[in-house]
Amino acid sequence: MAALRSETGQLELGGKDLASLAADETVGTPTYVYDLGAIAQGARALREAFEGAPHLVAYAVKANSAGPIVRALREAGCGADVVSGGELGLALACGVSPEEILFSGVAKLDREIDAAVAAGPLGIGAIQVESIEELPRVAARARVAGRRARISLRLNPAASLESLSTHSHIATGHDDAKFGIPKDDLPAALAVVASFPELALTGLSSHIGSQFTSTNAYVDAARTLFELVAALRPSHGKDLRFVDSGGGFGVDYGDGCPVAPSDFVRQVRAVQRSLRLDDLALYVEPGRALVAPHGVLLASVIQHKLTPQGSIVAARQRWLMIDAGMNDLLRPALYQARHRIVSVRAEAEASQSVPWRVVGPVCESSDDFGVHELPLEPPRVVAVLDAGAYGYTMASRYNGRPMPAEVFVRDGQVVASRARDGESVWVADREAFPP
Ligand code: LLP
Repeated sequence: MAALRSETGQLELGGKDLASLAADETVGTPTYVYDLGAIAQGARALREAFEGAPHLVAYAVKANSAGPIVRALREAGCGADVVSGGELGLALACGVSPEEILFSGVAKLDREIDAAVAAGPLGIGAIQVESIEELPRVAARARVAGRRARISLRLNPAASLESLSTHSHIATGHDDAKFGIPKDDLPAALAVVASFPELALTGLSSHIGSQFTSTNAYVDAARTLFELVAALRPSHGKDLRFVDSGGGFGVDYGDGCPVAPSDFVRQVRAVQRSLRLDDLALYVEPGRALVAPHGVLLASVIQHKLTPQGSIVAARQRWLMIDAGMNDLLRPALYQARHRIVSVRAEAEASQSVPWRVVGPVCESSDDFGVHELPLEPPRVVAVLDAGAYGYTMASRYNGRPMPAEVFVRDGQVVASRARDGESVWVADREAFPP
């Protein structure tokens, strides 16, 4: 469940009162809080949409790579989509079966390919190859390991950017993107695959972008993949086991999202059935949809400031300075993303509200979370909502700030936490910084 008001109006997540968490001096702010139970429940609900047909929900670890989250999703039956040797190691350490790991990325290092080929008895489920030029590189590493590498070809359907209807920074399936093999180059890619006995082509994939709030472009891309697979089966049928239609399921950041993750799956399954390709497994790679709604970023209000608003001297711009900044949650600065911000306390929420421009402490004008209706008397602690995806994983120590803390809740209990690190930047004593 996303953050909710309790009967007394206090903001809760996973049955835990967020105001008390922020007030707990072992926790404090800025702190990400996640509901592990809701994350697992969302994954199970998504898996039900496959109605027992062969499938894999490969969680895109980049959305949130915290161990407790990857483990909760593995327990709910998910695999992992990884994009680096670091994420691959993490998924394996969290107990994800190598068979259920996919490795995407346009520039994999040799040592990362080696780790993928070496994992488990047969290597990972598939190395998702993103260029024709990558094929001989994967084949060479497989030869060195004395193994056959299972691969999929990640195709770029080369749609127009406009048709993808999402922020240009997170659209990937268009003709000006670095991602994937242009679909018209598929015959050339297949010829290269055929020349390497070390490569087993097990699937076709695509991932056309992120935060889709309608299913059209996604389903079109999936249809393209299925049609290509149907054409390939007579010649390449022996190893082809899956179609991977990627991630990108949108979430409701406050403007609404009329489609649920399961809608994407149901509609793609309908296309698959209509083409009589039911024996193929359908893979999806959601990141955001599984975790974003189930995480918040708690921040304390440091102070406020009133300044003249443009030429209207009487009107004052109300700035609210919080202790979380763009180093903790980069999405607003990088994509002009808007996250709702609310008070964690009921009494503050009930009082008269006014527009506050909420900003962080970082010395950048883009360290700005936008204008939010909040109580006239500023609350002490606020929650930035829907921050479970691409929050902590994109955080940094910019401006000499520590990484935020993380708290993992299940059924009202804190089951794991990660301390705010880098606190040593506060220590004046040089002895604290050994060379
Ligand atoms: N598969 C691949 C190959 C990807 O590149 C991605 C995300 C996903 C799956 C998962 O997409 P999702 O289901 O989470 O939309 N930092 C941006 C999002 C970047 C997405 C990058 N690729 C943001 O904060 O909106």
